[in-house]
Amino acid sequence: MLKVGIIGVGTVGTSVAEILRDNADVISARAGVDIVVKSGVVKNLNKDRGLDISITDNVDDILNDDEIDIVVELMGGVEEAFEVVKRALGAGKAVVTANKALLAYHRYELQDIAKDIAFEYEAAVAGGIPIITALRDGLSANHIESIMGIMNGTCNYMMTEMTNNGVSYDAILKESQELGYAEADPTFDVGGFDAAHKLLILASIAYGIDAKPEDILIEGIDNVRSEDIAFAKEFGYAIKLLGIAKKDGNEVELRVHAALISQDEMIAKIDGVMNGISVVGDKVGETLYYGAGAGGDATASAVVANIIDIARSGKSTPMLGFDKPMEGSQLVLKPTANIESKYYLRINVSDKTGVLARITKIFEEHNISVETMLQRKSTDTSANLLISTHIAKESDIQSMIDEIEGLEFVNARPVMIRIV
Ligand SMILES: NC(=O)c1ccc[n+]([C@@H]2O[C@H](COP(=O)([O-])OP(=O)(O)OC[C@H]3O[C@@H](n4cnc5c(N)ncnc54)[C@H](OP(=O)(O)O)[C@@H]3O)[C@@H](O)[C@H]2O)c1
Repeated sequence: MLKVGIIGVGTVGTSVAEILRDNADVISARAGVDIVVKSGVVKNLNKDRGLDISITDNVDDILNDDEIDIVVELMGGVEEAFEVVKRALGAGKAVVTANKALLAYHRYELQDIAKDIAFEYEAAVAGGIPIITALRDGLSANHIESIMGIMNGTCNYMMTEMTNNGVSYDAILKESQELGYAEADPTFDVGGFDAAHKLLILASIAYGIDAKPEDILIEGIDNVRSEDIAFAKEFGYAIKLLGIAKKDGNEVELRVHAALISQDEMIAKIDGVMNGISVVGDKVGETLYYGAGAGGDATASAVVANIIDIARSGKSTPMLGFDKPMEGSQLVLKPTANIESKYYLRINVSDKTGVLARITKIFEEHNISVETMLQRKSTDTSANLLISTHIAKESDIQSMIDEIEGLEFVNARPVMIRIV
């Protein structure tokens, strides 16, 4: 019999204990051994968890318990969780976590500390979708050319409602908070940070890139408005928050931002709270993974799969799937300024003669070629210029936006959304 201790018996932790209890038949058949939860740790002992396990508020009760083989970290946060996980590994216990924030900052240190001890984290990226296993094991024969996906269900729900039902950004944010999809402070989701944590984990497995959130381009959906959705629809695009990792020579670009993506792409058709990730390998071609990216049971399904895997083998593959530089030459992060893309801009201007000519000239001066341009009345005295460009360099676009923002007839900083 294998004994598990759960540190953090909240939404996911409770579901983990329930799945191990309710699905004990298939789990023990597949693991080859019975797996039981011995105890759990919480902050508030007065809350009823509805579980028949011993609950304490002291992590030492799990970390110092010699009978516990596997520690499941589901408390969240970064530094406190890091300490707990290090202590568990130090005590020789296998660890399973769903904590993407912990891994976004400490995955390489944890790989070094874990060495031969199993450390698994399938649920940390895209909840119930087995994307880590797919990337680390199923596609391990490939050079990974790109990873692109919807990695945050809250943002995808908001974008879907704005597109399909014409709901405004403010209204859908409020509704998402009422439904419990978005936190009271929604920045972590709508600002792109949650998706960035997941992208960084995938990029480590695919490319061995050691970057932290502050090293990469992270933007959210907080600038997307109904006018942008209307433009996207008119030109055959959907707007999605995407996490993108792409190899270009010995450089890898990593970015999270709202993007206009052709409605013909499979990713564009992924709606609601669902997640979807496309991975292109040099030998396998494109593969696509779709499913629930969050929620207690879906996330716990991945956590329990990791527990079963540890029970089967006792040891997993190296945590990030490799133990030396993977490619012929070490890959490096591409500087954000060098990223190239097509762009869409919304520029709110005073409705005066000469404005269009001046804006067009500035585009030319920054080497940016316009693909389409529309003018839409905004108020009696102002208009929105909606412009898409051919491929341009990020640094050129950013300096052009800075210049346009300073013009006397421009009413606000132009909004830019990349087109992929
Ligand atoms: N929820 C999802 O859909 C989802 C999806 C993917 C990944 N994850 C990840 O899974 C982890 C857990 O998420 P969750 O939604 O289950 O969070 P949650 O509902 O807030 O649960 C956290 C649990 O940890 C306990 N806890 C927090 N700090 C503690 C401390 N210092 N000492 C002891 N116990 C402590 C809490 O105790 P109390 O109950 O007493 O407050 C609670 O039981 C996070 O890393 C999250 O990013 C969640």
